[in-house]
Amino acid sequence: MSAPAAALQRGPAAVELLDLHPVAADMRRLVVEGLSRSPRQLPAWFLYDAEGSRLFDRICEQPEYALTATETALLEREAPAMAAALGAGVPVEFGAGSARKVSPLLEALAPPAYVALDISSEHLAGACRALQARHPAIPVLGICCDYSQLLTLPAHRLLDGQRLLGFYPGSSLGNFAPSEAVALLRQFARLLGPEGRLLIGIDQPRAPAQLEAAYDDAAGWSAAFARNLLVRLNRELGGSFVTERFRYRARWQPQQGRIEMALVSTCQQVVEVAGRRWPFAPGEALITEHSHKYAPAAFTALAAAAGWRAQARWADPSDSFSLHLLAPQAPGRLEPVEASR
Ligand code: AVJ
Repeated sequence: MSAPAAALQRGPAAVELLDLHPVAADMRRLVVEGLSRSPRQLPAWFLYDAEGSRLFDRICEQPEYALTATETALLEREAPAMAAALGAGVPVEFGAGSARKVSPLLEALAPPAYVALDISSEHLAGACRALQARHPAIPVLGICCDYSQLLTLPAHRLLDGQRLLGFYPGSSLGNFAPSEAVALLRQFARLLGPEGRLLIGIDQPRAPAQLEAAYDDAAGWSAAFARNLLVRLNRELGGSFVTERFRYRARWQPQQGRIEMALVSTCQQVVEVAGRRWPFAPGEALITEHSHKYAPAAFTALAAAAGWRAQARWADPSDSFSLHLLAPQAPGRLEPVEASR
């Protein structure tokens, strides 16, 4: 269903929400496709229903998952320099989640508006209201959408004539395979326009044991986050998954430079979902997501392939995580974006 943008809330409040209804559309088709692949793999955004978004926030608080704390400290320290390098404009955050990272930038930029894009409508609404309370002078526009499929922003008075400053923290780009990542960055370039900029957080490769612990924390939130995908499939697509019959596994794959996260069948079983029956052999994996890691030079090469020029980079003291500032390479000369991925 691709209904036109509907304003869920208008009026004096400085939070507005648009729902582009990203999920209902073709979840069933994508599940059939993903479960038919070998190995089986579902799109990472399926992890983010309301409960998944909450579980992800718990992951971000775990000591093993240092990424969030590292990036937050970097933003707090460098926001004035980042704001100066970005220049005036409206920050547009891709996959804002709880929108807990952007505050230092908003303080340094004092922008005329802030736009949060996220797949999880309920979670987005709460995040926008909480953010608005912290920054009462800044109008907030929340748009529920799949940002990987968004070719333009909906027309809106808050965006009229504004430069757009893309903000894509958290190394979320890592969820995409490199070729998809290039397509996504190219799409961001078109969406943000020739005057746009992109400030993007990228996690770097490091000791495998450290990475595997980050994606399989001792408290079990990473495993719970992955298992929630099965709960969602049961609820929304008539699934019969028994979560205890799958164990969670996170492993570093050095060849591909990524963490693979999967639910592994503990027995021979047949699961029903999306109107079909799916046999799982013992040890057979359902990949829930990948998290690719990029050293700075590897990332800037990827960005260059998507039409972006690296302008600046800020790193944490151990140089394990970077925020890169990108500018368009050659305004108006970008390749057309592939329609599908
Ligand atoms: C949201 C994709 C950046 O890959 O680090 C973390 C997702 N999944 N732990 C990441 C995630 C389990 C996260 N990203």
